[in-house]
Amino acid sequence: MKTYKNGVITENIEIAPDIWKMKVDIGLKARSGQFFMFRTESFRNEPLLSRPFGVCDQNEEELTFLYQVVGAGTDIMAGLTPGHKVKLLGPLGNGFNTEVAKGKKVAVVAGGIGIAPLLDLVKNLPEKPDFYAGFTFDPYFVDDFRPYVNSVTTTSFKNNKKFITEDLNPDDYDIIYACGPNGLLKAIHEKNNEAYLEVSMEAHMACGIGACLGCTVPSADGEFLRVCKDGPVFDAREVFE
Ligand code: FES
Repeated sequence: MKTYKNGVITENIEIAPDIWKMKVDIGLKARSGQFFMFRTESFRNEPLLSRPFGVCDQNEEELTFLYQVVGAGTDIMAGLTPGHKVKLLGPLGNGFNTEVAKGKKVAVVAGGIGIAPLLDLVKNLPEKPDFYAGFTFDPYFVDDFRPYVNSVTTTSFKNNKKFITEDLNPDDYDIIYACGPNGLLKAIHEKNNEAYLEVSMEAHMACGIGACLGCTVPSADGEFLRVCKDGPVFDAREVFE
């Protein structure tokens, strides 16, 4: 049975408004698309509940996470400094199937902070993909992708009143990998005809190991799937009609 392992923060910096990058020295590795449950000892006298973060980048020593400050928990995280001890449980869940991309025309699509697990994905794909990233406000973190992709297309809804799905033509690709709000993932599925589409779903998670049923989403055939255990990466046909 998996247990939480101790790690130490080596970097925690704001790279764009409310978008933070944290590196943790812990000596664990994951498949692209897998995630870790993160927690720390009480800080500022507030306990931090466990919460999931996909792996953004990794090497033998460190895991890198990208996160958005959206409430009290992530605000506490942003206050942690190098040297602070944290605990990680994982790697958890099913990652992206990268083998199917060999010899194929591939697109990778990000929506907002859904960009986080896709850097590790593009680094591990057998083919260079075209990269699409849509944001509500100004784009961030996109330049880190440029060495690993053929092209970069970004949209900012605030600046040009456009969603990234308007620039993506699924018929141009054999394989599409996507991560972002579930509405974006569904929109790609509905526009898609032939491409094999893998989506990394977002959900609130309490346990991360399939026990609490707090992260369930309806499947396309009316059953329920646990995002933490059955996903977070799904064949889009499993979760969208
Ligand atoms: Fe508990 Fe998924 S988070 S079952």
